[in-house]
Amino acid sequence: MSDEDRPARPTRRPFLYVVVCAAGVAGDVGTLITAAQETGWDVGVVATPQGLGFIDAAAVEARTGHPIRSASRRPGEPRPLPPADAIAVAPATFNTINKWAAGASDTLALGILCEAYGSGIPTAVLPCLNAAQAAHPAYRQSLDRLRAMGVLVGTREPHDPTPGAEIAPFRWEEALDLLAPRLQEFR
Ligand SMILES: Cc1cc2nc3c(=O)[nH]c(=O)nc-3n(C[C@H](O)[C@H](O)[C@H](O)COP(=O)(O)O)c2cc1C
Repeated sequence: MSDEDRPARPTRRPFLYVVVCAAGVAGDVGTLITAAQETGWDVGVVATPQGLGFIDAAAVEARTGHPIRSASRRPGEPRPLPPADAIAVAPATFNTINKWAAGASDTLALGILCEAYGSGIPTAVLPCLNAAQAAHPAYRQSLDRLRAMGVLVGTREPHDPTPGAEIAPFRWEEALDLLAPRLQEFR
């Protein structure tokens, strides 16, 4: 194929939304933000209203250079973030996974996730929940439905629900591995 025949590649950096839910590991989301930036993404964070309480908002905003989105904007207000080229839901709670799969849209994060399917935005999800939550039959069905929608699902096993039990390190980078093909489209 000659250079003339090759499809034009976008020259800007791709924009990744990191959707943060209210799981205990959420406070370390800076690990994912930094890794994503080093890989070539620009990053904006969307937190669930509960998730907002689990993160250092000022540190996240300083690191991304963008305001965190959590509540819906008012009609007529400009969009605070550029459109997403890909979305990483990390950490993803039991609650948000089930609501997303069911099509509920009562948080900004869920609204973005529900629309991402129809908009064809590549989306990866890193579930973070315990085995007691994962045993609920709705959870398997939710994951099956999300997979059928084309959502890329991380491999982390549910952790021990015993209070004080050790939790395996959360593999933030797996979200970037899952979305690597999308990043390649910008190279
Ligand atoms: C300290 C703490 C840690 C939590 N960790 C988790 C977790 O790892 N996974 C999970 O699904 N829920 C966890 N929860 C429960 C969620 O915070 C709760 O279900 C919340 O409503 C989820 O909201 P969201 O899905 O809108 O972010 C935790 C709660 C607390 C107080």
